[in-house]
Amino acid sequence: MADHVLAIDQGTTSTRAIVFDSSGAVVSVAQREHEQIFPRAGWVEHDPVEIWTNTEWVIASCLSRAGVAASDIAAVGVTNQRETAIVWDRRTGRPVHNALVWQDTRTQPRIDELIRAGDMGGAGAPPGDGAYRFAETTGLPLATYFSASKVAWILDHVPGARQDAEAGHLVFGTPDTWVIWNLTGGARGGIHVTDVTNASRTLLMDLRTLDWSDDLLAVWGIPRSMMPEVRSSSEVVGTSRLPDVLHGTPIAGILGDQQAATFGQAAFDAGESKNTYGTGNFLLVNTGTEIVRSDSGLITTVAYRCGDEPARYALEGSIAVTGSLVQWLRDNLGIIQRSEDVESLAATVDDNGGAYFVPAFSGLYAPYWRPDARGALVGMTRYVNKGHIARAALESTAFQTRDVIQAVVADTGRALDELRVDGGMTRNNALMQFQADILGIPVVRPKVVETTALGAAYAAGLATGVWSTRDSLRAHWQEDVRFEPRMTEDERERRYRLWKKAVSKSLDWVD
Ligand code: G3P
Repeated sequence: MADHVLAIDQGTTSTRAIVFDSSGAVVSVAQREHEQIFPRAGWVEHDPVEIWTNTEWVIASCLSRAGVAASDIAAVGVTNQRETAIVWDRRTGRPVHNALVWQDTRTQPRIDELIRAGDMGGAGAPPGDGAYRFAETTGLPLATYFSASKVAWILDHVPGARQDAEAGHLVFGTPDTWVIWNLTGGARGGIHVTDVTNASRTLLMDLRTLDWSDDLLAVWGIPRSMMPEVRSSSEVVGTSRLPDVLHGTPIAGILGDQQAATFGQAAFDAGESKNTYGTGNFLLVNTGTEIVRSDSGLITTVAYRCGDEPARYALEGSIAVTGSLVQWLRDNLGIIQRSEDVESLAATVDDNGGAYFVPAFSGLYAPYWRPDARGALVGMTRYVNKGHIARAALESTAFQTRDVIQAVVADTGRALDELRVDGGMTRNNALMQFQADILGIPVVRPKVVETTALGAAYAAGLATGVWSTRDSLRAHWQEDVRFEPRMTEDERERRYRLWKKAVSKSLDWVD
């Protein structure tokens, strides 16, 4: 009986395929990076064709490494970098432009215009509250981060695109939609779907109806015919049609990557949370079936929806730059050869030497939402060396996490007992210890840190009978290491005060 599940994780820097067995253990992995395209300061693009070619390659490699036949795969789950916008022609399957990646800030002028209009009392917004004028519907502030302004930009800037979109030829999708459309036949009958979690990141979905809002589509000038069908996160949406590799396997799970990690950490119920350390950091706190609004700079998002059950929601603290700061040290400063060398470089010094690094490369996301911020390295003296800079870069991840956790505590009125973590950077023990120190609560790392792919596999396996209940999946979760806080309260608060001062230096930078 087919009892393995294939997860495809289309992330910001690479695409991975992972085969899991029915105990949730990893059987095989294949991964391929794609090019990060930076045409101008603030612009970030991916080539969707490269992403799809890489997806085909990782699926084939992963299955051959697993030593299982396609017939052993019960289902496919897809997870993805969220918000990234791709527009393509349904007749040819060709994208009309590169993908505009979630970090891309080119649409800030349009966002500012809408915020100003809201401040003048437009579309139901209280004056002075322009950035939050659509938050009641979407749970999100107006920001370049989300998909809507990116789709509008493509329609406005690619010659003929608006006309073709209005004629019904162009379609939009986040990377889940793009991958599934291609996996199910592309221009020859591919299905055009997304799930509630990805849809909740577009600034176009109504959190209450779980469907596209006609009012919001009109605000952005996006024809409804471009939009994928919104499905649940765990149900069969179609079957794969990759000849010779994966033909006829149900596609039964779709979750944005941060929601997938939440699912993979078995944080199914209200009050459960996780923090993922990837390109950026994303803390999600499950709020159950309740849509909780934040007063503290968190966003409200869909956590998951299984079949016809009511959706579960979450509060999210999104941090744009954490792991990508390490890549920047490697690629732009050249002070390390490989990302993993940051740990040993940081270990050459005992502390940050007084240096604080605010990596506001795309402005600051949660809880500040300040597009006018830019990166700041402060506290510099002649004493500071590259070890201190590496350390300050790592510490910025922990400080930013404390910023969002304080927002969670303010919104929910409840302190967190511990923080469950996952993602690549959590292998760095020194960083995890510092995280516990700066939070003053234990940081808990599970044995399987591949929680993003695992979450997508869980969603797909639940819909196809590989697993029967969410509760049965909890047994797979196993603690690896628990980092207990060791820093004194005074020291913790002193350092955090300095961090806040550094943040204040990064604000109001853009002219
Ligand atoms: O919201 C952006 C997020 O989904 C990207 O995640 O892991 O690809 O950096 P990651």
